[in-house]
Amino acid sequence: MIKGLVLDLDGVIADTAEYHYLAWKWLGEQLGIQIDREFNEQLKGISRLESLELILTHGQLNDAFSEVEKNNLAAKKNDVYKKYISEIVPTDILPGINDLLSEAKVRGLKLSIASASMNAPDILKNLKVDMYFDAIVNPASLKHGKPDPEIFIKAAQLLGLSPEQCIGIEDAEAGIEAINGAGMFSVGVGAEILMKNADFFVAETNYLNLGDLLSQVGKC
Ligand code: G6P
Ligand code: MG
Repeated sequence: MIKGLVLDLDGVIADTAEYHYLAWKWLGEQLGIQIDREFNEQLKGISRLESLELILTHGQLNDAFSEVEKNNLAAKKNDVYKKYISEIVPTDILPGINDLLSEAKVRGLKLSIASASMNAPDILKNLKVDMYFDAIVNPASLKHGKPDPEIFIKAAQLLGLSPEQCIGIEDAEAGIEAINGAGMFSVGVGAEILMKNADFFVAETNYLNLGDLLSQVGKC
């Protein structure tokens, strides 16, 4: 029986995936590396430094910077990103998410966040939805990033639940792989082609209805 929901943040709760994209695109321009939306799909769900490595490889600049310089570049991207998220207000929550969270609480489900973002707590506060969550996985406590299942296993553990008792919701291919690897029911948000490995998918967050999700799990 499902007792918990584990949600990714960027691209599921708020449109911050777009801000990550704009901030990386800005950094790419400084470095002469072009970042388009198709390439950006690979960055979704991936940690800040891993994203930078992918971008540098993409621009054939992987050996051009020392570790210290890479940390500085990642910090510059984060400064640009933080400017975007400092302006986030409660109405920036993606359609349908407020209803999903409140409905989950009414039904007595526990909620946790499985995001690779160090900025997740600030974004949840700005959106004024932090009180819905029983736990937020600290990405710094993990050995492996998505697509490794560790973050989803931890997110269930923090709720005192097994992965099989939870539904995981993601917008990234790496995230769906991580949920599936954890043995959790996976729900994808986004284009069918990208969400093809999800147990169930919706095109947009406003179609995330808790009753539907629970009945989909029942069909498995
Ligand atoms: C999420 C996003 C990624 C982002 C990562 C780290 O997984 O999908 O695009 O790179 O978090 O975010 P941070 O806010 O710590 O740089
Ligand atoms: Mg995401």
